Amino acid sequence: MPEALLTVSDIHTYYGDSYVLQGLSLSLARGRIAAILGRNGMGKTTLVRSVAGLTPPRQGEIHYRGQSLKGLPPYAIAQQGIAIVPQGRRIFKSLSVRENLLLPTSVLARSARASEPRAGKRWDFDAVLKEFPQLAERIDNPGGALSGGEQQMLAIGRALMANPELILMDEPSEGLSPRLVLQVQEIMQRLRALGQAILLVEQNLQLALSAADDVYVLSAGRFVFQGTAADLAGEAGVLDQHLGVSSVKNH
Ligand SMILES: Nc1ncnc2c1ncn2[C@@H]1O[C@H](COP(=O)(O)OP(=O)(O)OP(=O)(O)O)[C@@H](O)[C@H]1O
Ligand SMILES: [Mg+2]
Repeated sequence: MPEALLTVSDIHTYYGDSYVLQGLSLSLARGRIAAILGRNGMGKTTLVRSVAGLTPPRQGEIHYRGQSLKGLPPYAIAQQGIAIVPQGRRIFKSLSVRENLLLPTSVLARSARASEPRAGKRWDFDAVLKEFPQLAERIDNPGGALSGGEQQMLAIGRALMANPELILMDEPSEGLSPRLVLQVQEIMQRLRALGQAILLVEQNLQLALSAADDVYVLSAGRFVFQGTAADLAGEAGVLDQHLGVSSVKNH
């Protein structure tokens, strides 16, 4: 079996005394997309924070490209090639679109690793603007003047600028209109076709199932389902109890 890109092994993550992730394991192969589904407050963002080193697990191990991430601060994990598209987008509202896109590269450039030519390096400023022409049109506007959908594109474009091998995406469709959710869905499918590995946190079932190879359902800090999108469609109990839907719509 080829070595997984990301392996999470029985992690337990706390905020102070609050015990949130209660033994999660998952494996993501290179170029694949895994979706983490689950209702509000179940621990999805905490999983993203655990991988990114923002709230490291107190027990358990996370390996990236076969190396343990234990003890590494968030910037060192980013330098290894893991980018985040955070929940709520977190773009810099007073900085221009251009500055938002260029900022992470200037930070990463401080590491020797990022300045080495990386195999398969695909994204730079021009490539990102070509992928998101709407951002090109608004390049000198402040981030705060963009619509929700454009801010999401900016957050994704900013992550791509680092040429990450893995992107952690936390609810990219949150707060977007159905039309914009479809736009995000198209972006996900393009990234999938390009072989971009993504750990995708979502509450939008259709978006997650259309993009993901593997699906995990999180409930109160534990996975209650793990399988393919097709497997999940046959799990009426999981759909009803943990996702609040009676069936998976055809799409
Ligand atoms: N900084 C924090 N300090 C203490 N508890 C926290 C903190 N952040 C989250 N929690 C708690 O941890 C649990 C999991 O939260 P988390 O943000 O991971 O959920 P989520 O699945 O991402 O939810 P949502 O879909 O609303 O974003 C919740 O009970 C939440 O209240
Ligand atoms: Mg969250």
